[in-house]
Amino acid sequence: MKQFTQVADLPNLEVAIQEAITVKKAPFIHQHLGKNKTLGLVFMNPSLRTRLSSQVAGQNLGMSVIVLNITKEGWQLETQDGVVMNGDKAEHVKDAIGVIGQYVDILGVRSFPKLENAQEDYSEKILLDFVKYAGVPVVSLESATRHPLQSFADVLTIEEHKKIAKPKVVLTWSPHPRALPQAVPNSFAEWMNAMDYEFVITHPKGYELHEAFTQNAKIEYDRQKAFEGADFIYAKNWSSFHDYGKILSQDATWTVDQKSMQWTNQAHFMHCLPVRRNVIVTDDVIDSPQSLILEQAKNRTISMQTILKRMLENL
Ligand code: CP
Repeated sequence: MKQFTQVADLPNLEVAIQEAITVKKAPFIHQHLGKNKTLGLVFMNPSLRTRLSSQVAGQNLGMSVIVLNITKEGWQLETQDGVVMNGDKAEHVKDAIGVIGQYVDILGVRSFPKLENAQEDYSEKILLDFVKYAGVPVVSLESATRHPLQSFADVLTIEEHKKIAKPKVVLTWSPHPRALPQAVPNSFAEWMNAMDYEFVITHPKGYELHEAFTQNAKIEYDRQKAFEGADFIYAKNWSSFHDYGKILSQDATWTVDQKSMQWTNQAHFMHCLPVRRNVIVTDDVIDSPQSLILEQAKNRTISMQTILKRMLENL
């Protein structure tokens, strides 16, 4: 496995889920794979879960792990090609990537969108530059349009908690004071479409995601109808894709609360975190026994470890 940037990089998702379950049961049995191997983690944006779970995943496999918060600790990077670099930016991103690739065996990168220009963000230039110039396998730690390690952990969590073969999973937009990327909902939709679930997306009009990710998913603008009979409620805010990067609504009636959870089939509550409590979801829902937020976070180590294991096996 040379890259992990989206669900399509796992040719057989069912096999990958079974492999993840095996990894979770015996996390230290593959330590020989990572002996004398180094995992590099490059962050262009903040992280708690991705950074720590990736470090633990690498360590569980016997790897050494190095982390660079490149925008704070590295030289200021030029990301555009062909420019005359006589301004503030001291290093071109392709040189930085090529150099980091000399020190590591597998490289992870996090690069958020700027939310200014859809075409630029959705071109995934930074991520694709890492794939092109690193010279080693690359794992997305969340890119402009996708967060595949999160979605892999989310699918694993659903598989562990579902009570019927084909559960109803609802992705619901929730309000937020800041404009957030579409990466998590895009990715979640893509992975849900790869599973044999009943998948519904609900959001106010104007928050439609890019059709490449939602494909044939049911869009239900009536939130109560969407929630009815749901086995899993996955809450997330995102900014508008079609009115790119804009906040179109801060409607507090879309906050997930006890009243809306009562429309469901005693659904589990899910969120990738970090979460704005009592904005996205009320305390009584996120702190309830139905909440899976810590299980999701725990499975972040397992999703990364499963991907790293496959990459190490093919070095
Ligand atoms: N869910 C997630 O990716 O969290 P971090 O941004 O803290 O890594």
